[in-house]
Amino acid sequence: MFSEIILTAGLIVTAFGLTTIDTTCPLPDTNGINTFVIPANSSIGKINLLLIKYDQARKLPFSSTVLHDQLNTLKDITRASVSEPFGPLNQTCSSLAVPTFQFNCTGGISMTDAQKVKATPRYTWDRGHLTPANPMRFSEDALNKTFVCVNLAAQDSWTNQNAWMNIEVFTENKLKATNGYVMTGLCSANNTVDGPTTYKGYIIPQCFWKLACYKDKLTKVSKVVGYIGENTIVNFSDLVAQKDRNATTFTPRSQSEILARLTKPELVAQGWTDAEANLLPGRQVASTDIPTASECIAATTISTETFTEWKL
Ligand SMILES: *[C@@H]1O[C@H](CO)[C@@H](O)[C@H](O)[C@H]1NC(C)=O
Ligand SMILES: *[C@@H]1O[C@H](CO)[C@@H](O)[C@H](O)[C@H]1NC(C)=O
Ligand SMILES: *[C@@H]1O[C@H](CO)[C@@H](O)[C@H](O)[C@H]1NC(C)=O
Ligand SMILES: *[C@@H]1O[C@H](CO)[C@@H](O)[C@H](O)[C@H]1NC(C)=O
Ligand SMILES: *[C@@H]1O[C@H](CO)[C@@H](O)[C@H](O)[C@H]1NC(C)=O
Ligand SMILES: *[C@@H]1O[C@H](CO)[C@@H](O)[C@H](O)[C@H]1NC(C)=O
Ligand SMILES: *[C@@H]1O[C@H](CO)[C@@H](O)[C@H](O)[C@H]1NC(C)=O
Repeated sequence: MFSEIILTAGLIVTAFGLTTIDTTCPLPDTNGINTFVIPANSSIGKINLLLIKYDQARKLPFSSTVLHDQLNTLKDITRASVSEPFGPLNQTCSSLAVPTFQFNCTGGISMTDAQKVKATPRYTWDRGHLTPANPMRFSEDALNKTFVCVNLAAQDSWTNQNAWMNIEVFTENKLKATNGYVMTGLCSANNTVDGPTTYKGYIIPQCFWKLACYKDKLTKVSKVVGYIGENTIVNFSDLVAQKDRNATTFTPRSQSEILARLTKPELVAQGWTDAEANLLPGRQVASTDIPTASECIAATTISTETFTEWKL
């Protein structure tokens, strides 16, 4: 078996353009970011599945990026067959074990008493996936890998299981007809309404965001469209709050709008560049059928047509 983590800074590129494994743990760069490339087995062999940028100071992921092509349309594995297989991503990287990581991801995330009052009858934050599990059901290994600790963060349960799930499903369906990259990340600010931390002091991000970079099937123009899922508590009985969370979540956003929620917006551009270099080799999509990293970086605005097309 291959080991679990690749250090992008120490990549060795094979004749097939695929990266081999450097078992050294990724060291933080000058921004304090560890970049993980997490591989997975599939019917077309080993691919690089997840490109995760992890903020070591905040002890939370910054972003998790994947490529969507025809492989993602296979649904060989049922979601129910996996039950949180990974704890902290410390199998080969003990420097990211608890307490360097916030928690070991094997248990729930308890709320503070004040948060429980708002959330009643819920008492925990969800371990929200950045990259969701569902598009990775083409192999059991790929599905399992989405549960790595560095792909999870404390997320409001109602939003995770409703509005944000709608965004995940919608995005996945849109990318069945075209190829692209999907980057999901956390806003830089903490939850200042309910938070900023959980019962055990784990940081609660103010929001989750998602960016899809794809090539329009008809026009061949590369586009980036996104969403923001605010991360304050929505009561499961509060229909007004739910309607409001739906409305803000279902509004398509430009890349610029998402960059404005980040203190290190340049990490998004680095994410597109690293995704192109690491996720594309070995995949089925031709490089001409998916945007280049430069095109993803350049697509900072959205047209009225794109807004309408992506509005839920
Ligand atoms: C996936 O995780 C499940 C536990 O949830 C485990 O039983 C199974 O062996 C794992 N599969 C792979 C390919 O690692
Ligand atoms: C993490 O590392 C510790 C210490 O090496 C080990 O006991 C534990 O089983 C590891 N957890 C996982 C999920 O691999
Ligand atoms: C993870 O944390 C839970 C709760 O704190 C603890 O019970 C469990 O033993 C931990 N597991 C590992 C592998 O460290
Ligand atoms: C949340 O809903 C529950 C009923 O499920 C209710 O008891 C509780 O007061 C609500 N909290 C708020 C802050 O609305
Ligand atoms: C790799 O994944 C494929 C597709 O899910 C599966 O058929 C095969 O058994 C896996 N191979 C290994 C070595 O796990
Ligand atoms: C977010 O919360 C953590 C933990 O309370 C704190 O250390 C950090 O300074 C906060 N960040 C901001 C931007 O306030
Ligand atoms: C939120 O959106 C979902 C999906 O469109 C819908 O099923 C649900 O009824 C909406 N909730 C509210 C309170 O509007």
